Amino acid sequence: MRINRVLGIETSCDETSFAVVDAGNRVVRQVLASSLEFHSRYGGIIPEIAARRHLEVLSPLLMEMFERDGIDVESLDLIAVTNRPGLAPSLLVGLACAKAFSLGLDLDIVGVDHTLAHLYAPFLDNPDPPQMPFVGLVISGGHTLLFMVRDWHPKDIELVGKTKDDAVGEALDKAGRLLGLGYPGGPIIEKKALEGSPRFEFPVYRGRDYDFSFSGVKTALLYFLRDKELSEDFVCDVCASFQKAVMEPLVEKTIRLAKETGVRDVVVGGGVSANRYLRERFQEAGEGLGLRIHFPPMRYCLDNASMVAGLGYQWYIRGIKDDLSLSISSRV
Ligand code: KG4
Ligand code: ZN
Repeated sequence: MRINRVLGIETSCDETSFAVVDAGNRVVRQVLASSLEFHSRYGGIIPEIAARRHLEVLSPLLMEMFERDGIDVESLDLIAVTNRPGLAPSLLVGLACAKAFSLGLDLDIVGVDHTLAHLYAPFLDNPDPPQMPFVGLVISGGHTLLFMVRDWHPKDIELVGKTKDDAVGEALDKAGRLLGLGYPGGPIIEKKALEGSPRFEFPVYRGRDYDFSFSGVKTALLYFLRDKELSEDFVCDVCASFQKAVMEPLVEKTIRLAKETGVRDVVVGGGVSANRYLRERFQEAGEGLGLRIHFPPMRYCLDNASMVAGLGYQWYIRGIKDDLSLSISSRV
């Protein structure tokens, strides 16, 4: 059967999102709610709070999309849902919702890996999308993964490198906590760094392989801050220095992989790809080498259902589908 319109469902962490996407890349409508404010005072995401919020906002979001915006549920052809990786209680809410749609509308369902979906984000609403093969870097609060993507079928997506310990977003979030800046650290550090100078050296893993490591630099920061007074200027300089230290290996290794394999297109996705310093560094590094560097528009950087619908479409037309026995997995 030819399909066109996909309902995407994303609830892997603190964002509840639904989207209707046509032909894998035209976003008809995306709705999104975040429970971030309910977690900030705990300094991290609390899975049970996230799951409860998903349940609370799910119906109003669906009503907004299907009733207020007049999208006909009967026009849907497929249900795509994030079923991995993520927080188990959160994933379960989205999966139950996807199964209800699948059962009620008699539609096929496809379970999508949300880390790979982050690489799909720059393909949405883009008349000049990245070309295959491309080097893909996924950087978020839970993952730092480097892929070679030859086609959208999972067997054509090769994991080339990953973090040996903390994810880059996790390192930024921990640094934010150490500096008393609140949660999540990434966007706050980006802002503070604009006012500071990167005058401190923080050591970070730069081995010849394609793996990453961010736990050492975090510990270095912990010791560095001991007995220091956290004045505003000092904190801004530390933010600029720490941000530079963690971003450099991301740019270096990703560009090196493209160079060594002769691949022209580079895609960067995941929450940390919202960072403007990183975007500039990538553009600078790629320019002289004739690389095309692609970042998602800001609305598709954080977890969202449009990228899930888009990748679900690509998988389905390549023969991948699931049924009502689909379960969740926290594995990458
Ligand atoms: O992809 P995402 O929304 O959720 C996960 O799958 O983890 O990414 C969240 C992560 C957090 O660690 C947050 O600090 C980071 O993305 N982040 C940023 C920025 N915006 C969000 N890091 C650096 N700069 C930003 N502007
Ligand atoms: Zn994510």
